[in-house]
Order: sequence, then structure tokens, then C-alpha cells
Amino acid sequence: MKIGIFDSGLGGLIIAKAIRREMPKYDYAYLGDTKRVPYGNRSHDAVYEFARECVDYLFRKENCAVVIVACNTASARALRKLQKEYLAQNFPGRKILGVLIPAAEEAAKYSRIGVLATAGTVASGSFSREILKKNRKAEVFQNPAPMLVPLAEEGEKKLAEKFIGKYLKPLLAKKPEAIVLGCTHYPFFKSQIRRIAGKKVKIISQDEIVPRKLKEYLRLHSQISGKLSQKSTAKILVTDITANVKKLSAKWFLEKTRIIRIFLHHT
Ligand code: DGL
Repeated sequence: MKIGIFDSGLGGLIIAKAIRREMPKYDYAYLGDTKRVPYGNRSHDAVYEFARECVDYLFRKENCAVVIVACNTASARALRKLQKEYLAQNFPGRKILGVLIPAAEEAAKYSRIGVLATAGTVASGSFSREILKKNRKAEVFQNPAPMLVPLAEEGEKKLAEKFIGKYLKPLLAKKPEAIVLGCTHYPFFKSQIRRIAGKKVKIISQDEIVPRKLKEYLRLHSQISGKLSQKSTAKILVTDITANVKKLSAKWFLEKTRIIRIFLHHT
């Protein structure tokens, strides 16, 4: 069986690559819902419905034992319901894990925390809630950074500079000790964010946290890891072959990875 990684689009490939670097032996299927990206400004119900269809595809058609929801918006708005309702009814022996809680756990080690995320993730309040569960004294400041997703997809690091400054300004005014990059695409701008935030601010980036946490999870849960095949394969599934698909998958994952267009079964 495989490890499935799902994102609203291709930003999750940054996390997928880091996971694969940490655990190269396993077999991976990545699903990017490129036809319907972005999820960041969609309603709660729409994000749940889309995420359920994608996760269902990875379980049914790709025979995944575990699916990582690499999308923060979907982790914030759909993960709990997917775990409690969809998984329990359809695949009780398998697992769905998100990327938001691992980052929130890391952030909770600090007391003043800034969060950059999509509008949907910020509106859900999930980062604040999860951080406060671990550290009741923490102060969390959030700011949506909507332009960074399209700018990352266009590879526009230079153009992004002034937006990064604008989005960080209200967070930096709160004198945070750490800033969470709460969206799949933001690690693309990590060095710029680090430079603007200054050396004293810890940048919490999921591509550095999730692989470690997943490895640990698999070590502790042999009922999942024991089912995983180890032929070192990876493929990328997309719901639409857009102009950027080849370019972004080569940039954020690996050149020459098989890219397959799939059709979701609307459930
Ligand atoms: N994958 C989304 C996230 O991490 C960003 C792109 C989108 O808005 O769909 O929140």
C-alpha cells in the first residue's frame, strides 16, 4: 500500500518532496486538485466536499494506507470531519493526517506567535485553537496573505517581496518569537520571510516539520507502516493538466515524475 499526499493544488509537492527525502523507500501517490485550486477562499462545505473526493480517490484507486492532507485550508476546514465521519464509515483501518497540528505543536513552544495563512485558514481560527490547546498562555496573531499563492505559482520571488513585507508588518509589530508559514506555498518564500522577519524570529515551516512527525508516527503505528510497500515509486495525479503543472512539479518535486490526469468520482 502507498502513502497518499493530497493538496488543493501543487504547493503540497514541497512537503511531498521533503517527506520523500526523509523516507525514500516508500511508495507515494500525490493528488493535486488543480482543477479547483485555490481552496483558500472557498466555503467550509466546498472545501470538505472537494477534500473528501480527493482523499476517497487516494484510498480507493491508489490503495493508500494513510493520506496526508498537505493543504492547510483543508486541514483547517475538513480534516476533523473526514476523520470522524468519512474515515470511520468507509476505511476504519486507515488514517488521514493533517499538516496544521504538527506546525501548531511546534509553534506552541513559543509564547508570541505570528501566523501567515490563507483567508480560509485564518477565518477558521484553527491555528490559534490548536496552539492554545498546547500552550494556554500563548498569544497568537494571524494575518491572511492571499497574494502569496499565485505569486509562488508564477515563481515571482522578486515581485512577492513587497507583499511579504506588507503581510509581515502587522505581525512583526507584535514582536513575535516565531512565525508559522501556515500554507503549502509559503516555504517557497522562506528565505525572504526569514530575512524580513530578522534573525531573532523562528520561522516554522511545515516542510521541515511534517516529514519528521510522519516518520515518528509510522514508527509508533506499525498497523499502518506494516502495510506500506517499499519500492521507492512516486506519481503525481492531477484533476487538470494546467499550463503550470509540468513546470511546478519539476520545480517543487522532481523532473520526470509521471503526471496523470484523473477524473474524480463525485460522491
Ligand atoms: N494548499 C492551500 C493551503 O495550504 C493553499 C492554496 C489554496 O488556497 O488552495 O492552504
